[in-house]
Amino acid sequence: MNFIKTVSAAVLLLSAFTASAKTEKKIEIIPYPTSVEYIKGGDFKVPGSQLYIDPALDSVSRLAVYRLSDRLSCSTGKISPVVVGLSSASAAPKKDFVFLLDKPIAPESYTLTVNGKSAVVRASDSHGFLYSVQTILQLLPAEVYGKTPVKGLKWSIPSIVIKDTPRFGYRGMHLDCSRHFWTVEETKKYLDIMAVYKLNTFHWHLTDDQGWRVEIKKYPRLTEVGALRAGTCIKRNFSSHDGILYGGYYTQEQMKEVVAYAKGLGITVIPEIDLPGHMLGVLAAYPELGCTGGPYEVWTRWGVSKDVLCPGKGQMFTFLEDVFDELCEIFPSEYIHIGGDECPKDRWEKCPDCQALIKSLGIVADSTHTAEQYLQNYVTKRVQDYLAGKGRKIIGWDEILEGKLGEGATVMAWRYGDACVKSTGMGFPTILTPTTYCYFDFYQSDKEGRVQEPYAIGGELPIEKVYGFEPNELITDEASRKNILGVQANLWTEYILTPEHLEYMLLPRLAALSEIQWCPEGSKDFERLKASLDKHFKIYDILGFTANHRIQGNPGLPGAKYLGE
Ligand code: ACM
Ligand code: ZN
Repeated sequence: MNFIKTVSAAVLLLSAFTASAKTEKKIEIIPYPTSVEYIKGGDFKVPGSQLYIDPALDSVSRLAVYRLSDRLSCSTGKISPVVVGLSSASAAPKKDFVFLLDKPIAPESYTLTVNGKSAVVRASDSHGFLYSVQTILQLLPAEVYGKTPVKGLKWSIPSIVIKDTPRFGYRGMHLDCSRHFWTVEETKKYLDIMAVYKLNTFHWHLTDDQGWRVEIKKYPRLTEVGALRAGTCIKRNFSSHDGILYGGYYTQEQMKEVVAYAKGLGITVIPEIDLPGHMLGVLAAYPELGCTGGPYEVWTRWGVSKDVLCPGKGQMFTFLEDVFDELCEIFPSEYIHIGGDECPKDRWEKCPDCQALIKSLGIVADSTHTAEQYLQNYVTKRVQDYLAGKGRKIIGWDEILEGKLGEGATVMAWRYGDACVKSTGMGFPTILTPTTYCYFDFYQSDKEGRVQEPYAIGGELPIEKVYGFEPNELITDEASRKNILGVQANLWTEYILTPEHLEYMLLPRLAALSEIQWCPEGSKDFERLKASLDKHFKIYDILGFTANHRIQGNPGLPGAKYLGE
């Protein structure tokens, strides 16, 4: 290599380095887009720009643009009106946003081309437009999320081309509203921050031993009795409780409201009725549905109850069918989650009705499974068939794999990595939510750090560890990988007492999760995420979210009632 070549190579290298340093500084989008390219042209100045909508856009896409208009007008102090009626970018006046329907673009994807004169979005569905709006917002100062105009900020976007498409079609976040109850407004706020990170599925864990939270008109005692518990245990002192009556439930109208709100954010709500275990809420209200007939109480403690539904009594199936009839009227989702986890078989082993059913079905134990495990398969299959008749598919926790699971079921694999490997290997569509990386009820720091954290269930899941999850490292077999539908994190709320605490467990780990769900394999970069989080902490502040600031050297949740071990 001669000297000139060496020097020019060094200059090239240096400029590449400066360009990338510039990129790091400018783009603080989470999840980071699939492709980002800076192009020639000046900055696109946002204040007072108009937002042109292709008339072919559907109502959810239009709503997304109207919301962007609202954000821009509020924060810059200059009105950015929406104009409907533009079918081609070339007709766009200068200095404006344009949103165009472009059918060949893949589902949930978009392109954003910004130059000094315009910012043009192309997408083929409402998800693409919604995500483009989130990206545009994150290209601007965090104050764009605020309620008042802020002068003196750089309200402009550099010339850039972003092409963006998600890695996984299922990008979920779960919320347990049984152990602690979250109001409709709190739930909507949870959905708001999921939307910022381009998640598309909200798994709503609506029922459990500690409270039934769904209004079912045919069974009023579910909410009159099953939604209330006599108290709540303190930390792990399961033999007593605080004596404070605790409860709550959602009316059907409220749940419909949450479904509609989520739809406007591009989020599908999947309801979970956890069966046949985790059912003390039901048994307290209708003891005839249990093996022993009770009496039962809505649980005041945490754990796994031995009292479960009794399939031997035929009315259990009638009850479940009635519940799903009403539930399907509220939730239009393709999938209904039927739980299936942690169902001890102690009662079934002793129950004459369950044993008679086992006999009449010709179920026999073998070297791999007990007759009672096969009985759970029978329950799962009957519910699956009933829901199939209503055009719905089931999702169940990975315990539904024990014995034989019917084709067409989707598995939510949660037990460490093993269940993820087993489920995808058996050919079932699988949502990966392994405890090791995806249980957001775990502590966010090590044993020393957690003395400043609020008391939690246990575990150790700092954001760095969440970010380290790579589905293809867990699922190494190529054929099995094809069965991964996506990734979800779960937020169980036994030890989560307030909305602030809930948000503290969610943020910023949700940001890390979103990059696992969205970014192409091999493109994650923890330093980039960390650098972007400075801005995202500001966004949380502006939107009124509480977050865990450990990564900024400031752990803890002020006002936490109980501290960690
Ligand atoms: C679970 O964590 N029991 C699904
Ligand atoms: Zn029974």
